[in-house]
Amino acid sequence: MTTQKSKTTVATFGAMKAEGKRISMLTCYDYTTARLIEESSVNAILVGDSLGNVMLGYPDTLAVTVDDMITYGAAVVRGVKNTMVVVDMPFMSYQVTIEEAVRNAGRILKETHCNAVKLEGGQSIRETIARIVAAGIPVMGHVGMTPQSVMQYGGFKVQGRGDEAAERVFQDALAVQEAGAFAVVLECVPAGLASEITQTLHIPTIGIGAGVDCDGQVLVTQDMLGQYCDYGPKFVRRFAQVGDTMRAAFNAYDEAVKGGEFPSEKETFS
Ligand code: KIV
Repeated sequence: MTTQKSKTTVATFGAMKAEGKRISMLTCYDYTTARLIEESSVNAILVGDSLGNVMLGYPDTLAVTVDDMITYGAAVVRGVKNTMVVVDMPFMSYQVTIEEAVRNAGRILKETHCNAVKLEGGQSIRETIARIVAAGIPVMGHVGMTPQSVMQYGGFKVQGRGDEAAERVFQDALAVQEAGAFAVVLECVPAGLASEITQTLHIPTIGIGAGVDCDGQVLVTQDMLGQYCDYGPKFVRRFAQVGDTMRAAFNAYDEAVKGGEFPSEKETFS
């Protein structure tokens, strides 16, 4: 079913929180899937650096480059009209100097024509976010479990458990808001902490593994479709079993080719 939807922008994101409307977001990395999400009622797309895992087969997101994000980001933008597109800034594209961060954020915006960029981190990148926003580039923050810090964590682990850790995540979210971000992703934090942050901030929180009280939710599309099965985090719900459907279609094709039954006359030029 195709859905007509109104345009989602950085401004309507904020308005949705003010009106108590929940926000839906999915990752996407290609034109064909972007067209399908555009035809759904989902509000926003994240071209996440998770493309390192699901598109490129890396064990984490660390090897993803600005050029990768631009290639995949531009493909997604070409597939949408009313769906907001946020593109991740990859590891080491904003950590070295603020000048380099602004330049890379600008490149991503100019070369993909996305609506905003997303950066991982809180208090430590407050000034970086502020300078990117000051350059006219909308920023979505990302705090809690930030996958680009996987080596520091020693694995993908829930963050914000215990008073000290919770306070750190809380202050990170506040810092991101104060720096001028229009929204913030809360990843893998206890639901109670995410709820408290959501009630305190005036910008929308988008949760992934952060409970139901966030203003919105985001999932990796291949996870929620049952298409990417390298690992299945607790917070993923499979809304379809697309992997099974694809595997069955591949086998049916193979059988038809090998049985001499494909192509038929209908599929052949006379
Ligand atoms: O890269 C990504 O897909 C993300 C989401 C998990 C929030 O950052």
